[in-house]
Amino acid sequence: MKLLVTGGAGYIGSHTCVALLEAGHDVTVIDNLCNSSAIALQRVQEITGRSLRFVEGDIRNPEHLADAFEGGVDAVIHFAALKAVGKSCEQPLAYFDNNIGGTIALMQAMEQAGVSRLVFSSSATVYGQPEKVPVREDAPLNATNPYGRTKLVMEQLIQDWCASRPETAAVLLRYFNPVGAHPSGLIGEDPRGEPDNLMPYVAQVAVGRRERLRIYGDDYPTPDGTGVRDYLHVMDLARAHRKAVDYAAAHPGCEAFNLGTGRGYSVLELVQAFEQASGKPIPYEISTRRAGDVAELTAEPALANAKLRWVATHDIHAMCADAWNWQSKNPNGYSRDMSFNTYSR
Ligand code: NAD
Ligand code: WQD
Repeated sequence: MKLLVTGGAGYIGSHTCVALLEAGHDVTVIDNLCNSSAIALQRVQEITGRSLRFVEGDIRNPEHLADAFEGGVDAVIHFAALKAVGKSCEQPLAYFDNNIGGTIALMQAMEQAGVSRLVFSSSATVYGQPEKVPVREDAPLNATNPYGRTKLVMEQLIQDWCASRPETAAVLLRYFNPVGAHPSGLIGEDPRGEPDNLMPYVAQVAVGRRERLRIYGDDYPTPDGTGVRDYLHVMDLARAHRKAVDYAAAHPGCEAFNLGTGRGYSVLELVQAFEQASGKPIPYEISTRRAGDVAELTAEPALANAKLRWVATHDIHAMCADAWNWQSKNPNGYSRDMSFNTYSR
């Protein structure tokens, strides 16, 4: 299939491009590199031995999108978004504009190009503070911050759009906590500035870029008092997108799927697994709870298991080993001063 991947230079997008190219799909990426590096795309090609087309552009710009759709597209995988919860509280309008505005522009371009299949990066954030865990897809939805609001609104807009066009198929993938890296260590997560998320923070402590981890609370009603999450290997997540594209080809309508392992790990358990995988001590201090955090959030992945025929296969040890392999081989992430050699604009 000819696939258009928005945000394909980013963390999850680049890993998904590997899975798509390895499955024999033709891939075009559109990305404005606002939170990524074109080097990731060079490395995707190095890993797969296949080339992809890169349009450096913004999905809110109709000309950039027209360029991306040139040559025909069978389905779109839509990663492009801003994703920092804290920043979204400081600059909600930037998040509304980029995420919601970008998604509307993308749907318009899809209509113009006659493309009717969409796989969308949603998030467990749409469950807000869930009443019970593991969470099922039919649990009540709620936003607790502007970033989460954009995911919720985008899900609803896509649903309405699908309802208006019976031939349209949309798959909403609600990721839990993606971590890890491609086993080659060539691509991985490279946050700008201080990481918000646990795994990249731990990895940067292990590699000596940060002194110690701050654990946000040890007084939660969990076995060791620290927060419990459903961590998911990014290569399992990448494979789920391949499955979702195939599913969309045969199932018009709009459906949401949780993507997680169904198994939760606490912050302390993850730290311990990372110490084992890396052989490095992870100094930490206990700090106060982070605003908006829940005690425990895990997925009920049965629907994705049954309908997408997808199961997460990597355990926490593989997640930590691959995160460490990436971080130790690229202590400073991607250097950002190289350009991609096949720009189309
Ligand atoms: P990322 O920031 O690494 O990737 C997003 C990519 O989109 C970046 O390359 C960025 O440059 C690009 N982008 C952003 N706005 C754009 C625009 N207007 N036009 C073109 N490109 C644009 O983030 P990620 O972790 O790979 O996340 C991918 C998607 O998955 C996002 O939609 C995110 O909200 C969602 N998600 C991520 C997580 C997570 O923990 N990483 C969890 C749940 C959902
Ligand atoms: C995991 C656990 C923290 C950092 C976020 C977004 C969510 C989704 C995934 C996009 C929690 C603890 C963390 C640190 C810590 N993203 N922690 N010290 O909060 O589950 O989810 O990313 O859609 O929307 O909210 O992930 O990795 O930030 O935190 O103790 O320095 O680690 O309190 O218990 P979270 P996280």
